[in-house]
Amino acid sequence: VEQGVALPRPPVVTVMGHVDHGKTSLLDYIRRAKVTAGEAGGITQHVGAYHVETSRGVISFLDTPGHEAFTAMRARGASVTDLVILVVAADDGVMPQTKEAIHHARAADVPIVVAINKIDKPNTDLERVRSELSQEGVISEDWGGDTQFVPVSAKTGQGIDELLDAVLIQAEVLELKAPVEGHAKGTVVESSLEKGRGPVATVLVRSGTLNKGDVVLVGQEYGRVRAMLDENGQPIESAGPSIPVVILGLSGTPQAGDDLVVLEDERKAREIALFRAGKYRDSRLASQQS
Ligand code: GTP
Ligand code: NA
Ligand code: MG
Repeated sequence: VEQGVALPRPPVVTVMGHVDHGKTSLLDYIRRAKVTAGEAGGITQHVGAYHVETSRGVISFLDTPGHEAFTAMRARGASVTDLVILVVAADDGVMPQTKEAIHHARAADVPIVVAINKIDKPNTDLERVRSELSQEGVISEDWGGDTQFVPVSAKTGQGIDELLDAVLIQAEVLELKAPVEGHAKGTVVESSLEKGRGPVATVLVRSGTLNKGDVVLVGQEYGRVRAMLDENGQPIESAGPSIPVVILGLSGTPQAGDDLVVLEDERKAREIALFRAGKYRDSRLASQQS
């Protein structure tokens, strides 16, 4: 099924920053506060991506250890991140991994929104953080630069709504688009083998719509999507661009960064998967394997 016309899609965000500056706390706060809570789902493990619906629009977060996942996926040619939230603790300022995060974002040509975190703490110095970041070329709008700085507390929630707004404002500039109609293409965020469930993969849909029952080819694995779940472990029937989903029914566990495509024919998906794994040698498939 051909993909349709490209429509605006939500931004996909990765949170990066120095050790202990509050990346996990920020992601957890947003997840708790903004992800619509469902009934207790079947999934017990933490899903490595989620999306939030704000009054201004949808945002998807990759909830994986920032730098490693970002670089691992980029090394495999999968840059799924549209925008980086750079977390800088207001009581600590710019540190080595803050600079590393800036470097990663620049190398990927991805814009940064700065979250100055831990503003609930006494003795924080926002001007110092601004000054230190400006030395790295990350200059706030009120200092004449083009980067939004948002003071937040992942502990109290102060500033979080403003941070989400800033992300959506920055995303608007990017004019992100993808077709909603047609067979899905996606990227694996993480996967694992679970007792009683078999291979489970979190996939970010990049374009088109993924449906329960679709035949998919994912890296060296394949299968029919037997069940599809949202970030709360709730069953869903379909998912469009920028939405992360958990899928069951694969032949094995794919790798983070692997591409997902939908095929009509399960046997063909199997043959290509085997071919990619080096377990099936048929020259006719060589031209189809990329
Ligand atoms: P790593 O994953 O180890 O790099 O750390 P992280 O960046 O994920 O930081 P994490 O969220 O684990 O927070 C580190 C510590 O700072 C924890 O003790 C948090 O409770 C605390 N913390 C995070 N955000 C805030 C905040 O806004 N205010 C205060 N007071 N403490 C915070
Ligand atoms: Na920590
Ligand atoms: Mg963490």
